Amino acid sequence: MSTHPDAAEILLEVEDVSIAFRTDAGLARAVEGVSFVLRTGETVGIVGESGSGKSMTAMAIMGLLPKKAVVTGSIKLRGRELVGLSDDELREVRGKDIAIVFQDALTALNPVMTVGEQLVEAVRVHDPRSTPADRRARAVELLDVVGIPSPELRVDRYPHEFSGGMRQRVMIAMSIANEPDLLIADEPTTALDVTVQAQVLEVLREVQRRTGTTVLLITHDLGVVAGTADRVMVMYAGGLVETADVDPLFYETAHPYTAGLLASLPRLDRRSSRDERLYQIAGHPPVATEWPEGCRFAPRCAHAVAGLCDVSVPEPVAVGTGHTAACVRVDEWQKEAS
Ligand SMILES: Nc1ncnc2c1ncn2[C@@H]1O[C@H](COP(=O)(O)OP(=O)(O)OP(=O)(O)O)[C@@H](O)[C@H]1O
Ligand code: SF4
Ligand SMILES: [Mg+2]
Repeated sequence: MSTHPDAAEILLEVEDVSIAFRTDAGLARAVEGVSFVLRTGETVGIVGESGSGKSMTAMAIMGLLPKKAVVTGSIKLRGRELVGLSDDELREVRGKDIAIVFQDALTALNPVMTVGEQLVEAVRVHDPRSTPADRRARAVELLDVVGIPSPELRVDRYPHEFSGGMRQRVMIAMSIANEPDLLIADEPTTALDVTVQAQVLEVLREVQRRTGTTVLLITHDLGVVAGTADRVMVMYAGGLVETADVDPLFYETAHPYTAGLLASLPRLDRRSSRDERLYQIAGHPPVATEWPEGCRFAPRCAHAVAGLCDVSVPEPVAVGTGHTAACVRVDEWQKEAS
């Protein structure tokens, strides 16, 4: 069991982070005023539609934002400020403290090196004093941790000899070779079919249990976080709109956008689910150069009130233990909905 999140130390502290891009059409805002903490050993999901700023938030933490991005605010790893570090310093942080797994394992692996050679290299960088035999043993061990059958044989195979799900396991093995404190997984299962997705998520959980690493899991799929994360942050148009443990997020939903996301999940308990058209939130997220004043969800929100919701961006308010929602009508909208 991992330490209870409230008792664990703060690993990462993100404070009032904003990210914008210089474009021909003006400044495109990607993320604005995002604040959160991650505690050692917890698995936290970031959920939101395409373009909501999930990957840019991850890239800011990794120090991998494109050069034309402007980032403000503070990102501290164990108290050390990461915003403003040099490229060399950031490379060191990425090598030692933070690792990321992307969606596309095939392009991330080197096709002309065996999986073992790539793992051995990752182990060597982390621990230069290890012997070649140590490194190979560690490579086999890492493949075992991520559930690759016969790891001592598979270690000498090339990436193309692995299935998509197995390649994603290899990527997870590579990312934990450094024993990072924080593992960011950005849509790690999106390219996989549903059964394999579940297996890869189970691997992430197992890695978390065995290594105690903190996991930040990014996905557009609430179903994925439901079974994997301890806590969820819901993102909409560059801002966090709701943060809660998994159960309260599903059963005591406090933000209309989260309610919309939940209503659009396929439900196994509905008999006619195959014939039923899935609910979709009406409209589209705002274009980054044309964010509305006030609550950015207002143009799509059935509970919006002019003169109230369009005045300023709602601050997150506490609605329960560790549960916040950025909605000025948090008490009223649920009554209207029921
Ligand atoms: N290189 C770039 N130049 C300009 N704007 C960018 C650039 N990269 C991202 N953006 C903007 O940043 C915003 C957030 O993008 P981000 O990639 O974080 O979204 P996301 O939530 O990860 O979406 P997805 O689910 O599609 O991966 C988008 O609105 C996008 O328009
Ligand atoms: S602040 Fe207003 S518009 Fe925004 S989610 Fe709440 S009710 Fe809807
Ligand atoms: Mg993304």
